[in-house]
Amino acid sequence: MQAPLDRPLSPAELHQLAGETVTETGIGPAEAVRLWDQVLAQACLSVDHPRYLSFIPGAPSKAAAAFDMLVGACSVYGGSWLEGAGAVYAENQALRWIAQLVGLPDEAGGVFVQGGTIGNLSALVAARESARHKRALAGRPTPDRWAVITTGETHSSVKLGLAVVMDVEVVQVPGDERGRLTGPAIRSVLESLPESVIDGIFAVVGTAGSTNLGVVDDLAGVAEVAAERDWWLHIDAAYGGAGLAAPSVRHLFAGIERCDSFIVDPHKWLFAPFDCCALLYRDPVLARAAHTQKAGYLDPVAVGDEWNPSDFSIQLTRRARGLPFWFSLAVHGTQAYTEAVEQTLSTARAGRKLIDEAEHLRLLVEPDLSVLIFERIGWEQADYDAWSSRAMLQGFAFVTPTKHEGRVCTRFAIVNPMTTPEDLSQIIDSMR
Ligand SMILES: Cc1ncc(COP(=O)(O)O)c(C=O)c1O
Repeated sequence: MQAPLDRPLSPAELHQLAGETVTETGIGPAEAVRLWDQVLAQACLSVDHPRYLSFIPGAPSKAAAAFDMLVGACSVYGGSWLEGAGAVYAENQALRWIAQLVGLPDEAGGVFVQGGTIGNLSALVAARESARHKRALAGRPTPDRWAVITTGETHSSVKLGLAVVMDVEVVQVPGDERGRLTGPAIRSVLESLPESVIDGIFAVVGTAGSTNLGVVDDLAGVAEVAAERDWWLHIDAAYGGAGLAAPSVRHLFAGIERCDSFIVDPHKWLFAPFDCCALLYRDPVLARAAHTQKAGYLDPVAVGDEWNPSDFSIQLTRRARGLPFWFSLAVHGTQAYTEAVEQTLSTARAGRKLIDEAEHLRLLVEPDLSVLIFERIGWEQADYDAWSSRAMLQGFAFVTPTKHEGRVCTRFAIVNPMTTPEDLSQIIDSMR
């Protein structure tokens, strides 16, 4: 049975309905479950509703969702081989499938982290550490300021991680007409950048499936420049990486196999529950050099070359959060994943046709994957806001406005195989 879409309530409404839930003597399991079922859960949107098409939704398989409960119920520590060997073995098998899709070598490996934000940050910290090490070996001084190449559609998490957390200069290269970062555009920007900035560049971030537009960068062109300049190539495929499993779009990712690090969020388009990001390194030794925590009490964990997931990202204690994804992959097999991703792509293609045929809509960017960005001709911000909140309050659909090139518009992000062309058609009709 499909869970209802539900809707948020205000703090005052929730307080009136739920009151004070944490008390000195406890309210007991029956009352706590009642409160959750009848009040709190109903004030949380169902991200896996077939007409939830905002941001990037999720659509966990039943197997993955069920196994998540088991992971939560077991006290498995996922940070080290010593404590969680069985869990880490299974997680690594799931990572291997992804590494093969990317085209990374056998030695590649990594870890499941909380989400794309932490995945991107961990990869870029490893990239800088590797650059520092290489410069030291070559006897080159540390640059005045480290810098990384991005573009306008690069995800906000990358820019925040670089500028605020790492204090690195974000060099923004103009995208092409679909917002894609391309090799020629990077070369042209390099011609006008001061030598002092160029000297500090240690990485370039390519996006394989931009969040707002769903478009894949010119990965081959970007990889070419990265190789020439000896920069680290990081690929953010948090949303779009699932497309690697789909033969109909695999060609768009050509060049991805040259990356040094890569992320994809199975909680987006690979049917796993929150929160789960697969982070992979071409050479995990470089990541280990950046992320391994050293302390006397941790010495028993650092044994030989055992695989300790906490060595590969910014975290120590970790839930074995890749296990629900692994379980579902093991149960259904990889072919089922290919079919489910192709199913969403075919719904997106049908949606694109419906938009083309609707005289009240205009597609804004040629889609690559399963995001469709379009405008309702004649609508202003207030029209989108009113329509969007009405659709949510009616429990009909969750489709929020967005902006593209300064203009308000809207988009469908389709990752749920249960979303049908009929769902999209009904939403399109509601915009007349
Ligand atoms: C391309 C891209 N990168 C990174 C992120 C951040 O991922 P998370 O929300 O899992 O931290 C997102 C989220 O939508 C994304 O679409």
